[in-house]
Amino acid sequence: MAEPLNVCVTGAAGQIAYSLIYIVAKGEVFGPEQPINFLLLDIPPMMGVLEGVVMEIQDCAFPLVRDVVATADPLVGFKDCDAAFLLGAMPRREGMERKDLLQANCKIFEAQGAALDKVAKKTVKVLVVGNPANTNALICSTFAPSIPKENITAMTRLDQNRATAQIAAKLGVTCTDVKNVVIWGNHSGTQFPDAANATATVNGESMSVYDAVKDDNYLKTEFIATVQQRGAAVIKARKLSSAMSAAKAACDHMRDWFCGTPEGVYVSMAVISKGNTYGVDENLMFSFPVTVKDKTWAIVEGLSNEFTVEKLMITENELKGEREMALGSQSA
Ligand code: NAI
Repeated sequence: MAEPLNVCVTGAAGQIAYSLIYIVAKGEVFGPEQPINFLLLDIPPMMGVLEGVVMEIQDCAFPLVRDVVATADPLVGFKDCDAAFLLGAMPRREGMERKDLLQANCKIFEAQGAALDKVAKKTVKVLVVGNPANTNALICSTFAPSIPKENITAMTRLDQNRATAQIAAKLGVTCTDVKNVVIWGNHSGTQFPDAANATATVNGESMSVYDAVKDDNYLKTEFIATVQQRGAAVIKARKLSSAMSAAKAACDHMRDWFCGTPEGVYVSMAVISKGNTYGVDENLMFSFPVTVKDKTWAIVEGLSNEFTVEKLMITENELKGEREMALGSQSA
């Protein structure tokens, strides 16, 4: 059997972690033969709850789980880490301005970036889920200068999965029959879910989603709004934010990053922009369509059209504003 991978989960006492740890421990992310050491990080007041999570992991008797470490110290949690799911973040409290939220998270992700820089493997793959995910990932990367910028990403896979499921339901097919829906930009209400290059298999025949749905207006209005507002709809119904679906999406993202994307398929990940694709400003964590090979992502080019350009600008401007609020003069 292979050497165990050190997998860190922050916010490990929270609700997304409760679903995510199970999926990872079952071998569905790093493979059915890959042993795992869990490094579970949360804040000091949550150590009691985290102890309960550790007991449950033990009681699951997972064949792949070796060590489990529970800690409130990022220098312990990120030690020699190969993969990190950063779920823990400061939630928005009532009356809190967006700027205050960004600055509170800036402190968390500055400290975590610095700790990753100090003790994680330089090959570590970091997935930021805690909101505002894109900008938190940018902060983390800014304060982890020795870790390649390509190794820190943020999650828009939940939005991709939501978009795929909406189209599959509209066509009466399964989610595996729908491919290459793209989420552009920020994991927020300005994101642009784009089906222009997506395909669907209907009655055994592969065709463009636009041809299959035969309702351009739906794909350019209602579909986009439904995906943009899906998180809020779940909160309204559940009185809690998406957790099972967020955990599944985080696992999909990390699995594709470690194991690669299938031929002809691209997925959405918020990755560092270098200023040379789709006209997006450099140094933003922007969601693009990517393919992954040998644990390295590459942006898929040539997928934009007139409609895309305008939508990309809206979400890019929001990300620039977040960067300015969070990092100010350090954002250059
Ligand atoms: P939760 O509130 O159940 O758990 C969060 C956990 O993070 C808590 O146990 C808390 O103590 C911990 N935490 C806070 N600060 C920390 C720090 N500095 N270090 C380590 N742990 C820390 O929240 P839930 O539902 O698990 O969500 C986690 C985050 O994921 C939230 O920010 C949420 O907004 C975000 N989210 C992002 C999605 C995406 O698509 N990008 C989708 C759904 C949720």
